[in-house]
Amino acid sequence: MKGKSREDSESLAKDAPEDVDVETVAEEHTETSDADSLADSASEASSVEPNEAENNPATTATDRDFMEIDESTPLANQIANETKRREELKNSTLPIPLETRFISVSNQKGGVGKTTSTVNLAAALAKQGLHVLVVDIDPQGNASTALGIDHRAEVDSIYDVLINDVPLAEVIQKCPDLDNLVVAPATIHLAGAEIELVSLVAREQRLRRALEEYANHRASEGEARLDYIFIDCPPSLGLLTVNAFVAAKEVLIPIQCEYYALEGLSQLLNNIKLIQKHLNESLDVSTILLTMYDGRTNLASQVAAEVREHFPSEVLDAVIPRSVRISEAPSYQQTVITYDPNSTGALSYLEAASEIAKRGAEKDSTKK
Ligand SMILES: Nc1ncnc2c1ncn2[C@@H]1O[C@H](COP(=O)(O)OP(=O)(O)OP(=O)(O)O)[C@@H](O)[C@H]1O
Ligand SMILES: [Mg+2]
Repeated sequence: MKGKSREDSESLAKDAPEDVDVETVAEEHTETSDADSLADSASEASSVEPNEAENNPATTATDRDFMEIDESTPLANQIANETKRREELKNSTLPIPLETRFISVSNQKGGVGKTTSTVNLAAALAKQGLHVLVVDIDPQGNASTALGIDHRAEVDSIYDVLINDVPLAEVIQKCPDLDNLVVAPATIHLAGAEIELVSLVAREQRLRRALEEYANHRASEGEARLDYIFIDCPPSLGLLTVNAFVAAKEVLIPIQCEYYALEGLSQLLNNIKLIQKHLNESLDVSTILLTMYDGRTNLASQVAAEVREHFPSEVLDAVIPRSVRISEAPSYQQTVITYDPNSTGALSYLEAASEIAKRGAEKDSTKK
């Protein structure tokens, strides 16, 4: 945070849409920019090793049914490895967090897997009996689509909650495929919310208050306490994302294992520091998830290694491979967890969810 004036910091809170000057923030922090050095070294490792289909982590069980299996091949190793991982998952139960975990899934870089990670982690946890809410605050409404939630313009949505003070309970819809998963959808109206929020009272606090009220509502209705709330952020650092950072206790940053994905990471971390300083001191970057990992490229493994070196305690061991099943699930209005539960992609998201739950339980045990 060194080098930032108080005026700059306050301007983030007050006028986030106009004043979060991403270039200025990035320039001021060049001397501490982990992300930039990561990006540089990643660029040196851009050679692609041609490889066979069986080495691709994206290869799914269904694909493999059509391949001939030679036990001495990497494919056989991969199958053995996946079988072992599935067994390990089967034998472990997910701990229930002491308190509701509020996780903002954020990265102002577009297309890095925020929505995919939000919906699949939420589905993985809900499938295993935990009570989960997904709040879609991206006007694109991709999380709503992937969870099979109606988000046509005429549907009441998170826009009405943030702008018109409609209670969250009135816009919540149940995910058709998973009993314990509920969703606050985003509609196209949310596109105007960044501007409309500017003139509203307590504009940075509106999501936090709505979530608090919703928790009370559930308690008064005798509904189960939520274990996890995931907020799927848009690819920007405007007031919608500020609302998510103020409402959340944790930030989960998906990082795509490719060169450009590391750009802007220092800027994101600096904005989070500003939020910690002025609006939500308990916000913690608890989790970094490596996404779209392509084992055929040296670049992917170099990027993953560099990110792990710089953020050793935040990066999950589980890595999400680039996978056709993951990318096609939303077109069936599903998560990969329900669309193809036996795929490598589903396995990886189940592992990531399990790790998030267990790391949370370890932190809980130190609080007791
Ligand atoms: N592991 C993966 N394998 C293959 N494709 C993936 C994977 N993860 C995400 N994708 C695809 O990459 C694209 C971007 O993913 P996603 O929408 O989750 O990113 P995002 O960060 O939410 O994007 P935005 O910034 O636009 O909100 C989507 O088409 C998605 O289906
Ligand atoms: Mg998205």
